[in-house]
Amino acid sequence: MAPEAKVTAATIRARKGTSERTVVLTAYDVVFAQLADGAGIDVVLVGDSLGMVVQGERSTLSVTLDEMVYHCRIVSRGVKRALVVGDLPFMSYQASVEDGMRAAGRLMKEGHAEAVKLEGGEEVAELARRLVGAGIPVMGHVGLTPQSIHQFGGFKVQGRTEAQRAHILAGARALADAGVFAVVLEAMPHALAGEITRGIPATTIGIGAGVECDGQVMVMHDLLGLQPSWKPRFVRRYAEMGKAAGEAFAAYAADVRAGRFPAAEETYE
Ligand code: KIV
Repeated sequence: MAPEAKVTAATIRARKGTSERTVVLTAYDVVFAQLADGAGIDVVLVGDSLGMVVQGERSTLSVTLDEMVYHCRIVSRGVKRALVVGDLPFMSYQASVEDGMRAAGRLMKEGHAEAVKLEGGEEVAELARRLVGAGIPVMGHVGLTPQSIHQFGGFKVQGRTEAQRAHILAGARALADAGVFAVVLEAMPHALAGEITRGIPATTIGIGAGVECDGQVMVMHDLLGLQPSWKPRFVRRYAEMGKAAGEAFAAYAADVRAGRFPAAEETYE
């Protein structure tokens, strides 16, 4: 049975240094948010990954703040226990601290998010500090930060060269100093993720970063197998819902075409 007590940013931070791992999953609508919450997921992340898995874009860059507000609002309606974190989309916070403060404010006031996530390290540490100072819990994100894929030359593992390693470490430390409660570590060697996890007071949440992190995050569509042709190394599929949905749609089409649907019991007298 799912645990009951409401999860807050303070709950997640307090787990640091204990053996309790934090389970994070993305969600983009009320039905899947309810299912995730009911299953005992600790943090429901309304990720800007919605640009790819919901909107069919090739990256997250085109997602707008209005779209994030909308998805945060419908997800938050489905969640009772989990912490709802809203992603700040590309260029809603990079141009200035003031932009970031206002964008985060919208995710909280209009989207009912309970914390915000931003990508980057030292370059966003001042914004993170200001947000925390304004009472907004912040989750950082370092390593492969998808809003910078054009800088990286694609979705590539980060932290393999000494320069990248030092950059990621410095970024994670700067975010922790700014007071973030958690940091996502994406697509990096597990030894680096382990070093960060041991070295900062914030809870680390891994995706493609190995088991040494304090918790893990997965994109819901990956976990459920909703896009059967997409299976990168770091994904574990817990269901084959894409296949199941395709089979259900084909069976429905066949029944309609053969005159088998609706049957008498599905028809009003
Ligand atoms: O947008 C997203 O879903 C994310 C997670 C993959 C961490 O940033």
